[in-house]
Amino acid sequence: EFAESPAVRRLVDWDAEALRDLVADYGSPLYVLDLERVRENAHRIRSAFPDAEILYAVKANALGDVLETLHAEGVGLECASAGELKRALAAVDSSTEGDATGADVHYTAVNPPARDLDWVVDAWEDNPDLTITAGAEDTIDRLENRGYDGRLCLRVNPGIGAGHHEKVQTGANAKFGVPAERAVDVLTDAAERGFDVVGIHAHVGSGVSSDQLDDHREFVERMGNLARDVSNAIAAVDGDGLEFVDVGGGFGVPYRDEEEPLDLEAVADATREAIGEVDARLTIEPGRYFVADAGVLLTEVNTVKEARDTLAVGVDAGMTTLLRPAMYDAYHPIRNLTADSSTTGGHGGDTDTNNSHTSREIRPQTITGPICESGDVFCTDRRLPASERGDVLAIGNTGAYGYEMANQYNSRPRPASVVLDGDGVRLARRRETLDDITRLETERSDPTDKAG
Ligand code: LLP
Repeated sequence: EFAESPAVRRLVDWDAEALRDLVADYGSPLYVLDLERVRENAHRIRSAFPDAEILYAVKANALGDVLETLHAEGVGLECASAGELKRALAAVDSSTEGDATGADVHYTAVNPPARDLDWVVDAWEDNPDLTITAGAEDTIDRLENRGYDGRLCLRVNPGIGAGHHEKVQTGANAKFGVPAERAVDVLTDAAERGFDVVGIHAHVGSGVSSDQLDDHREFVERMGNLARDVSNAIAAVDGDGLEFVDVGGGFGVPYRDEEEPLDLEAVADATREAIGEVDARLTIEPGRYFVADAGVLLTEVNTVKEARDTLAVGVDAGMTTLLRPAMYDAYHPIRNLTADSSTTGGHGGDTDTNNSHTSREIRPQTITGPICESGDVFCTDRRLPASERGDVLAIGNTGAYGYEMANQYNSRPRPASVVLDGDGVRLARRRETLDDITRLETERSDPTDKAG
């Protein structure tokens, strides 16, 4: 039944009335995530990649409900920090009833702070099957210094980039991974030092689309070649070759109505073909694809004014709630849930098709948040039903990198999150209060007392 679900859940597919009721019950702004949609996305990935190990990149949405849901679906968890690892191990523990070994949990270290490594090596002692992916020889040394000799994967830098914005292209950015041509030496050395070398990894970027399949093929081909070389080299040291080749995530999702959904089967075919004969399992670790279209952000209109050449609309969510538009100029569909009334039909020209039924005038409008920054803009001159104070707007495709990138700039509390599961609704994370904003500050005392 899941495989039949449409490849994309458009904003127009959400039930406007049910979403408005959520704002009435839980307040605004509000993140909403539909766990059933997360499962459907997981099933779609599984059916395209039946033989691969599938990990979820926790950074896309680290809510405990998401991690437990995906782990219960047989998806492993890829973590980018001690905090994500803590969450992942807790989720694994509860979905396997306390006998977690970390078997399908990976920790990918990117310039890891000492505090993170201390925590992770500690966690490894209780979860001996944890896999640590190092992106630098320094990281390997620092793990050895802490007594770690567990499962080790090397992140390589393949020298190829991809992705929707230069800020999410990682493949050619020197920060990520060891240059691929050094991998054989680094891993042979690690095997000789007693690490259990199990994999190689690369993630070239986020937001890969069907028209970038050639780049993907070239990247995977390099990984296949490298896997063969590394396997031979380390088998000569400890008798075992590599267990897996991890080609990262980056599966794009359409944010605009006119964008085609990614052809997962085509990506899977290209991947299998390009990797060639390797005696190691394929591992993938998408994040966005699992959760993006499972989430919407609801926000209330509080200010409407006639500006010089647009309708200026103020809402209670801002760049602190959803950073993607300000940071990447990302487009997110927007729908006026209050203006939507199923009694009137018809489309309004080149209007955002997420707003298909309304009797309101369609007007270009610029929607901005409450943050004192001119970049605090969700859309400019977008044609939508004329907003009125008190309307509830839905901002679509915000299940990935939405709440995760939220922050407290302007001393603004972060919003609440609710999850939907079938007919059930649950407050998954409460709204922050003004007290939460100052909670971490210490008492101001004698300034000469530096010890505190
Ligand atoms: N694996 C690694 C090692 C990664 O660094 C990432 C994303 C992923 C997997 C998952 O990539 P995905 O399948 O979600 O594209 N904040 C940006 C995205 C940054 C992604 C960083 N790494 C955005 O909102 O577009």
